[in-house]
Amino acid sequence: MSLFGRVAREAALEAGCYMKRRLGKIKELSFKGEINLVTDVDKKCEALIIRRLKSHFPKHEILAEESGGDRQSCAYRWVIDPLDGTTNYAHNFPFFAVSIALERELKPIVGVVYDPMRDETFYAERDKGAYLNRKRMHVSKERSLSRSLLATGFAYDVKRVLQNNISNFNKFVMSAQAIRRPGSASLDICYVASGRLDGFWEMKLFPWDTAAAVLIAKEAGGKVTRFSGEPYSHYDEDVIVSNSKIHKQMIDVLRSKRRRSWRR
Ligand code: IPD
Ligand code: CA
Ligand code: CA
Repeated sequence: MSLFGRVAREAALEAGCYMKRRLGKIKELSFKGEINLVTDVDKKCEALIIRRLKSHFPKHEILAEESGGDRQSCAYRWVIDPLDGTTNYAHNFPFFAVSIALERELKPIVGVVYDPMRDETFYAERDKGAYLNRKRMHVSKERSLSRSLLATGFAYDVKRVLQNNISNFNKFVMSAQAIRRPGSASLDICYVASGRLDGFWEMKLFPWDTAAAVLIAKEAGGKVTRFSGEPYSHYDEDVIVSNSKIHKQMIDVLRSKRRRSWRR
């Protein structure tokens, strides 16, 4: 494991342990939008991560959800979601994660997603495979969408706009075996990487939601594209992550006009 990878893992672990300790003990909770929460734990975790990264790599840039970016004109940039799944966290629903990626010239080269409740570290470095707690992991082998378990999520403007993923949700409910909405995009994507899910799609995501997890999914043998099938960058908003075998079927469903009905 590279020094970058080791420091990223240590930072994710430190923040994850802190958020686990503070579960159920939030001190400050405020709204960034109508339903978009932020807590003192999000901010403290972000500060812990940045402090550790900066102590090892003072010249590297940072792009972090709560504090934004600092420009250093460096090829290396850390992309951080200190607490992915804040709504779950605020409700003591134990599904949330720390997500840290290192990109070089805008391409992720290290990704760590840490789930403190299950003590699970999803980890990858480019061209070196993907690991779950140091054990190599691979995507599922499922070939049929109708037997696939998928996950998705909804952006915080879901109640205000028409482009809110609900029509896609309806279409997949009719074509997949089942759909889940776990509430942490980075962890959802890592579940595709580990074969627990066969596919994931979502729109209006941010770079910190996906930068680490898409590298992990690709290194586990998964396929990652935009809804159109074009190559995905974590600076794009819409993404499909799959075990590769059901990828085309997922694109076809997203392109289809109407949801399939059980009425023939
Ligand atoms: C959110 C979660 C959620 C996804 C939202 C994200 P946050 O991140 O990943 O699953 O559906 O689009 O914004 O706000 O908990 O870091
Ligand atoms: Ca997030
Ligand atoms: Ca977050």
